[in-house]
Amino acid sequence: MLSIILAAGKGTRMYSDIPKVLHKVNGITMIEKVYNISKCIGNTLFVLGYKVDLISSMYPHYQYVLQEEQLGTAHAVKLCLEDIKKTDSFCVLYGDGPLITEKTLLNMKQKFEDENLSCLLLTCNVSDPTGYGRIIRENSKIIDIIEQKDANEDQLKITEINTGVCMFKSEHFIKIIDCIKNDNMNKEYYLTDSINLLHKKGYTIDTYQLEDENEMLGVNNKLQLSQVSNILRHRKLKTLMLNGVNIIDPNTTYIEENVVIKEDTTIYPNTIITGNTNIGSNCIIYSSRIENSNIDNNVKIDNSVIENSVIHNNATIGPFAHLRPNSVINQNVHIGNFVEIKNSILNENVKAGHLSYIGDTTIGQNTNIGAGLITCNYDGPKSINLI
Ligand code: UD1
Ligand code: CA
Repeated sequence: MLSIILAAGKGTRMYSDIPKVLHKVNGITMIEKVYNISKCIGNTLFVLGYKVDLISSMYPHYQYVLQEEQLGTAHAVKLCLEDIKKTDSFCVLYGDGPLITEKTLLNMKQKFEDENLSCLLLTCNVSDPTGYGRIIRENSKIIDIIEQKDANEDQLKITEINTGVCMFKSEHFIKIIDCIKNDNMNKEYYLTDSINLLHKKGYTIDTYQLEDENEMLGVNNKLQLSQVSNILRHRKLKTLMLNGVNIIDPNTTYIEENVVIKEDTTIYPNTIITGNTNIGSNCIIYSSRIENSNIDNNVKIDNSVIENSVIHNNATIGPFAHLRPNSVINQNVHIGNFVEIKNSILNENVKAGHLSYIGDTTIGQNTNIGAGLITCNYDGPKSINLI
């Protein structure tokens, strides 16, 4: 099954120069998050438009078609026709809907294949359907989708809505795609019009109902961006906890999507762990910020900032230490109050307990650094190491 991710829009309501799908949710761009999920059902093809060069330079491995003008979701999918013809079936996803889960996609695929459907739509019963396409049923069978702007008073009361995620049998879809017109309020080619066309041809259409309303939340503005990001953050924390990490207060803990933490490590409140950080087991982390770093086992970090650094087993860092990029802290090292380390290697058992700056330096094992030591080695391009 081919996944088609629609991501051509600018995202006007984001009030940003950055295309909507490049905004991050819990540390990962929306487009990359949707891509990662889509991979569970097959190959992925993107429909890109706004700032296509920026997106394809960030993600050169993405296969995409270019939609120069956004004439509607059906127009976007039609641009993928060459690829659709090469597969049995395809799934449409939105680049601004990063909360959809692999579980839902795999369940949908199963139903789509088991029941040999022409189309399977992901729908949801919501408390407030405003803005969404409404699911129109006749004798309980789905026969159409009506967009908010085109709906009459009775249709507006329908609370079962189209999430936008849908699967189609290519052979049947190809037969109706050219019949979709743009004679609606928006003057757009609606993918949702394919439902009624398939129905009229007698093809089988069914729905898969989402239980968790959250999964269909899309991002149209920065308020929704933070809401979606927060849901992803809590999902990440839940996964970590279920895998053995102690998180004392999930409400004040920020751990991004790509972070890996092993069992029995304890994270205290007000901790921010970002980027590609790996943390081993039995570590204790008190209120710190850790970015793109590798930390082994039994490490204690107290109220400190760690950036692009490596910390080996049994080291203790802080309180109030700052490891700047390219610091390597070897086993059993102790770094104490108000110590700043940059681009340096501290070998086994080094102690730097108080008030130091150590930069561009290698320090041999078992060295005890006295309070106040500063490696003032900077003399511009001729910079040398003093220790
Ligand atoms: C769409 C559905 C609606 C559904 C809702 C769920 C249609 C006609 N309507 O409405 O039934 O309830 O999603 O969120 O499909 N895009 C392109 N190219 C285009 C148009 C859109 O790439 O020409 C992308 C957008 O960037 C966006 C996604 O497709 O990521 C959805 O488009 P949007 O215009 O936001 O559709 P909705 O009005 O939300
Ligand atoms: Ca939308």
